[in-house]
Order: sequence, then C-alpha cells, then structure tokens
Amino acid sequence: MPIDPALLPFGINLLDAPLFTEGKAHEAFRLLRRERPVPWHPGTERLNGFWSLTKYEDILHVSRHPELFISSKGIVGAGLRDDGGYVPIRPGDGGISLITMDPPRHVKMRRLVNKGFTPRAVNAMEPSIRKVTNEILDRVASRNECDFVLEIASQLPLAVICGMMGLPQDVWPLMFELTNSVLGAGDPEYQSEVPEEVRGSGEAERQTSMGGEMRMLGYFAEIIEQRRREPQDDLISILLEADVDGELLTQQDILAFCFLIILAGNETTRNAISGGLVTLCEHPEERARLQADMSLIDGAVEEILRWTSPLHHMSRVATADTEIRGQKIASGDRVIMWYPSANRDEDIFPDPYRFDITRSPNDHLAFGIGEHFCLGAGFARKEMRVMFEELFRRFPDIQTAGPPDRLRSTFINGIKHLPVTFTPAR
Ligand code: HEM
Repeated sequence: MPIDPALLPFGINLLDAPLFTEGKAHEAFRLLRRERPVPWHPGTERLNGFWSLTKYEDILHVSRHPELFISSKGIVGAGLRDDGGYVPIRPGDGGISLITMDPPRHVKMRRLVNKGFTPRAVNAMEPSIRKVTNEILDRVASRNECDFVLEIASQLPLAVICGMMGLPQDVWPLMFELTNSVLGAGDPEYQSEVPEEVRGSGEAERQTSMGGEMRMLGYFAEIIEQRRREPQDDLISILLEADVDGELLTQQDILAFCFLIILAGNETTRNAISGGLVTLCEHPEERARLQADMSLIDGAVEEILRWTSPLHHMSRVATADTEIRGQKIASGDRVIMWYPSANRDEDIFPDPYRFDITRSPNDHLAFGIGEHFCLGAGFARKEMRVMFEELFRRFPDIQTAGPPDRLRSTFINGIKHLPVTFTPAR
C-alpha cells in the first residue's frame, strides 16, 4: 500500500525514485534542511520507517559513531520489516560483508584489505589505468557519436576492478550485466529476466536483484575454487592466504568481499564519470576553465563528486536511545544519511548551488566518512582524473547530444545511457 502523503514531511517521499530521476530531490532537501532537518519517514507494510538525515553535521556524527549507529542491519534504504530470518551476504541487507560489518571485526578486516588500496597501490596502477582509458577511447575514435555510458564511462571501472580480481576479459560484459541486475534492479530496463507483466513492480525488483546475486555468487564460488587450486597474482588469491587473528578468511568472507567490490567498484565510478561529463557540459564556463588549464583537474574531480553524489544514501540502525539535533531516536530506529543533501548544506558550503571547480575547502561526503569511508576512493579519483584528462585531450569538443537516461533508483545516482557527439580523433 502506498504511503499516505499526509504522513510524509511536506509530502516529500524520499523512497520515490522519480523524485531523484526528475531532478526534484535538491529542492526537497533544501526545504527539509531548512524546516525539518531530521524528519520521520513512515514505513509501509513491507518497509521500515526511518529518520532522514539531511544536515552535513548530523551525517558526520552518525558516521563517526559506528558503535551507536551500526551497519550490520543493512545500509541500503529502509530495510524490509520482516526479512524472514534470511542472512544474505549482499551489501544492502546486512550480514558479513565489510560494508555491513561493525567494529571490532570491521577494523581488522579493513586493515587486511587496505593494503591493496593505499595511495601507493593506486599510483602504481596509474600507467595501466591510462593505457586502458586510451584503448577504450580508441574504440570510438573513428566515429563522431557514441553512448558515453555503455562505451566509455562503464568500461574503465569495469576493466580496473576486473583486472584487480584477475577476471578474464570475456566475463567483463557478464559482470556489467550482473552488477546492473543487483544494483539497478528497480529499473525495468534491467528486469528482462522477469515476466513482462510484472516489470516495474516491487516483486520484479526483488526477483531481479536476487537472480543477479545468485548468478554472481555462483560465478565467484567457481573462481575462488580455481584460485585455490592455482593461485595467481590477484586480489582473490591474496585473500585466500590472508587471516584475521590467525584464522584464514572463510569462503563466505571471500565471496562477500568479491561481491561487494565488484558492485562498489563499478556502479559508482561509472556514474561519477558520466555525471561529471553531464555537469561539465551544463556548466560551459567551468568546463572551459578546466580545458584551458588541466592542472585544475583534481579540484574539478572533487567538485563533480560533491555535485553529483553518485550514491544517494547509506543507512544505519541505532543501538541505544539517543538524540540527533534535539530529535529523540529510539534504539532500533533506522536513520538514512542523504549525501546529496549534506553536499549542498548551506552551513558548510558557501553558495552550495554553484558548481565551482576551484572550490576550497571541499570536504564533501560523496565517499562517506569515518570507519566505512570508501575503500576505493583513491581508485575512483584516479580513474576520474585520468578519464577526463584523456577524454579532453583527444575529444576536446565532446558534447552531450541529448538528455541523460537516468536509472530508476533512490540509492544510486545512475545514468544508463548518454548520447554524445565529438569530432573523430586523427
Ligand atoms: C565515485 C565512486 C565511488 C563512490 C561515490 C563511493 C561511495 C562510497 C560510500 C559513500 C561508502 C561508505 C559506505 C558507508 O558509510 O556505509 C563507500 C564504501 C566502500 N566503497 Fe566506495 N565509492 C566509490 C568507488 C569505489 C570503488 C572504485 C571501490 C573499489 C575498488 C569501492 C569500494 C568500497 C568499499 C569496499 C566500501 C566499504 C568500506 C567499508 O565498509 O569499510 N568504492 N563507498
């Protein structure tokens, strides 16, 4: 049953994907920040109710108290009222993935996997990231148009993350398809495996997501077996040798990590790159500044991240009665941290609705903050930087040739397709 609009704060339903896809979310957040920054959002028969956090400082507070606001009861959306006792390993629903782990185990696990994601590891990958970027651009260079998402933005994160995991190139398209099924499950375009008459429904979303998850886990279970027999120089082989407190990681630990990393590494960075191009095309003066002086790229990447907030939210559950901004939060209540709102918070960012590639300071929360701060932030930043450097070097006049086709989601600020035109490179 739909939520009675009279129960919603100012009638704003933050679980309604069109609010985001039709570009109305920022107005809604601006109103909430001003009038009711910690509103209660009622649940439905299926979903829990939750407190929405719209202010930067409140999100900071919650993220920095992982003992009081835990991740292990799920970090995506409102969560199901009754999960039937199912203990999944996918990131959204609790269980044993790094992103849904609480201290103290989280700290130990994080220390273990951190080694592959240090600034040094990221810098060492730069030449191969640049090489792959140019190979991707080579594939469209003789043409004058393409789908920027399918042919460019999605290809780099896919190559980087699959490369790290040692996955053969012939399965990369399958990984692209399955990550779309899991994280884009609410969009009818990715519901091709369910009967046509139910597409667009909550049930279609559930089936699509579960189907994608099962196929992905099945695939990784096989790869893990192969690596046990024949270790390679890749992340999966390293994890097979790794231990926490003297105990080797379990099959479930490794499966969960593979599952998390393939999702987190692909969907977000792809959208940051596509969203970045859309934003730069919509702000020609800032784009011209950047193209005239590419040494401004690091600031531009940060501003793109602030502006686009590739993930709309993460959520937590309170473990004790507490208060946020004077609002009582009961033990067991869920809070959702809305990053696009924090990233336009007037108390933190002067003139927050201005896209400014030299904004400083720019302490946006696009990667979260605190204990669960994005493990892959260094890779994401590097991929964005290299992509825009090479893209503007080779196709300086690239332009959007139509509106972005946005993903129907309240979790991911996704773009599924983006037509672009450019002068073919020599
Ligand atoms: C622009 C791209 C990206 C964005 C916006 C993004 C955003 C985020 C956010 C907001 C979190 C915090 C989760 C929380 O607090 O509950 C997170 C965590 C995480 N991200 Fe990213 N991410 C991006 C790219 C990547 C990449 C490229 C990888 C892997 C190569 C990655 C792997 C992870 C992992 C493993 C975590 C969990 C960390 C933990 O729980 O300790 N992310 N990301």
